Amino acid sequence: MENGYRVAVVGATGQVGTLMLALLRERGLPIEELVPFASERSVGRELDSGLVVRGLSDESIQGFDVALFSAGGSTSGEWAPKFAATGAIVIDNSSRWRMQDDVPLVVSEVNPQALQAHHGIIANPNCSTMQMVVALKPLHEDAGIERLVISTYQAVSGTGKRAVDELLDQSHALLHEQDIPSPSAYAHQIAFNALPHAGSFAPGDDHTDEERKLINETRKILEDPDIRISATCVRVPVVHGHSEAVNVQTRRELSPERARELLAAAPGVSVLDDPDAALYPLAINAAGNDGVFVGRIRRDPGHERALDMWIVADNLRKGAATNAVQIAELLHERGLLHTQSAPSAA
Ligand SMILES: NC(=O)c1ccc[n+]([C@@H]2O[C@H](COP(=O)([O-])OP(=O)(O)OC[C@H]3O[C@@H](n4cnc5c(N)ncnc54)[C@H](OP(=O)(O)O)[C@@H]3O)[C@@H](O)[C@H]2O)c1
Repeated sequence: MENGYRVAVVGATGQVGTLMLALLRERGLPIEELVPFASERSVGRELDSGLVVRGLSDESIQGFDVALFSAGGSTSGEWAPKFAATGAIVIDNSSRWRMQDDVPLVVSEVNPQALQAHHGIIANPNCSTMQMVVALKPLHEDAGIERLVISTYQAVSGTGKRAVDELLDQSHALLHEQDIPSPSAYAHQIAFNALPHAGSFAPGDDHTDEERKLINETRKILEDPDIRISATCVRVPVVHGHSEAVNVQTRRELSPERARELLAAAPGVSVLDDPDAALYPLAINAAGNDGVFVGRIRRDPGHERALDMWIVADNLRKGAATNAVQIAELLHERGLLHTQSAPSAA
């Protein structure tokens, strides 16, 4: 590699794509050319960086070394294999490929070894799974996780920009004693409310797809199909930052002190845990940060081998964009990313 890689960002005008573009420019990956792609609606639009958005076509996707996708499952379903067929490595934020056996599902601090076995597409986990496994990995290695009981408190930005607008519009209307616009991003009013309905219910399933993702993806990433998991995913009127109350039951004894020690030494984790000083992770403080924050670590009085904890991270950063960029960096560091000779199409 002489000058750097040719990098495509698909979904570059969205919340996650915008952050991926910024992180790619700020961090260390050597880049020769960075090209934003989005839907036909945005083709020709000049972004703040001066880059001009391109449309996806068989010609325009040629010559890239790596493509970071955040444009939803159907775009990934159609275009990720096409990019991979050109020789690019795809890092995909959607849920489209995550549970496929030959697609590694990678969290940079947790299972980087899984990258070795990729076949052109690498999946980035769901945001609530991502932050949780970063914190759980050191505990699992030390004491073996037997069972998890999870309640999430998820920010509206996890649904997309239109959900952020909906929360702000409803809040404004309520505070100004105006009629509330009808909900469209969610089944019910999200402002000043908590919805036990993050994600959607498939016909006949009493869990949301978000809850299923949390269960299935956690087992795949921790490479342990025996972990028993109960999950309730709740949408709350927070713009950025998912919070999670997690009850962790281990196979072997694990004290709160030992858990704190393990977490303090874990990559990507910061422990904020001093209840007397009202110190614990908060979504408003995690927003804009790349790390995972853990606090309220305590013994579960109802079980001798279980701890309770509170895990918070920025869902758009570590929950999506940051991890995708970290995967590209890991591929580079491990010699798994190669430049192609053909130039990218204009
Ligand atoms: N938000 C999160 O916390 C989070 C976390 C993890 C993963 N993800 C995943 O990341 C993806 C994007 O999320 P987001 O919150 O960034 O959504 P978003 O703000 O709604 O952005 C969607 C992006 O996809 C593009 N797009 C839509 N249809 C397209 C098409 N047919 N061809 C090409 N591009 C198309 C949009 O382009 P236009 O501007 O032209 O419409 C836009 O750039 C989703 O798959 C989501 O599940 C999100």
